[in-house]
Amino acid sequence: MQAKNQKIVVLGTGGTIAGESKSANEGLTYKAAQRGISEILRSASDLNSQWPTFLDDFQLESEQVAQLDSKDMDFGTWIHLAKRCEHWLDMVDVSAVVITHGTDTLEETAFFLSQVMTSNKPIVLTCAMRPANFKDADGPRNLRAALCVAATTKGRGTWLVAAGEIHHSQYVQKVHPTRLNAFDSGEIGMAGRIANDQVQWHETFVPPAFTHSMAVSQLPDAASWPWVEIVMNHVNALPLHIDALVQAGVKGLVVAGTGNGSIHTKMKESLFRAQQSHVEIRVSTRCNQGSVIPNERHEFETAGGLSPVKTRVALLLDIMSQHQSH
Ligand code: SIN
Repeated sequence: MQAKNQKIVVLGTGGTIAGESKSANEGLTYKAAQRGISEILRSASDLNSQWPTFLDDFQLESEQVAQLDSKDMDFGTWIHLAKRCEHWLDMVDVSAVVITHGTDTLEETAFFLSQVMTSNKPIVLTCAMRPANFKDADGPRNLRAALCVAATTKGRGTWLVAAGEIHHSQYVQKVHPTRLNAFDSGEIGMAGRIANDQVQWHETFVPPAFTHSMAVSQLPDAASWPWVEIVMNHVNALPLHIDALVQAGVKGLVVAGTGNGSIHTKMKESLFRAQQSHVEIRVSTRCNQGSVIPNERHEFETAGGLSPVKTRVALLLDIMSQHQSH
């Protein structure tokens, strides 16, 4: 047999893809993050058909980086995950990294990695909406699809593969709490599809320009990351919680504004007070499609097309890199 001289490394972090429920008929009440990554990888290769030949050329290696329900994802795990991605991607015989992750905060982890990794090799995240022992679990199919994308994709990029869809980390959001195809890339649309192990990139999809916020080696310890919160504009929005956050030491505020980033007059007054106390403010929109188009009526910096949770990641990294350059 010919030696396989290229590797794809699969990093496990937990999630429903590693989850177990009491019975194979129970898909909603289960415990996430129960199965190890080697068992998950085995179930993807146990699917009734053989690996496609292009995947057969790769040696698959796995590492358990974390084991958690992604609602509990934290900065310490992010730093560890970014370091493990960097470690593997720096190796000449590693072509790509695949990460299994919970769906709930996947878009935040994917965006974070896209901002700190400098490797020219792809990172492909995947997940599941049904636990691993469910009668029709989607995890094995999703992992197989993620491996196919990882094996055939060249160049930089952080992607999500699930339910036969390929999404870019910049645009993807979880948009449904239970549906199998729970992710969407809004007006930009998905980057491609995968069916029967065949990857099809959409010709009309143009990846966003590469932005790099901070090197992995420069990320401070989790305990030193700044405190950044998201506040939402809504009917009768009050200034009280913003004043309380500033009093308590918040360093950054992301406003999930209404429409094109509009903010209640009373809330805006407290945001000006926050700004005077050197709290960084960014305005995004609570609309789940489109992006805030800046105009002269915006009194705070706008977030472009990033959702509120991704704006928070960008602001965290901005504040940390400003501190390092002083
Ligand atoms: C999680 O995010 O870890 C649990 C939910 C899921 O993966 O669908």
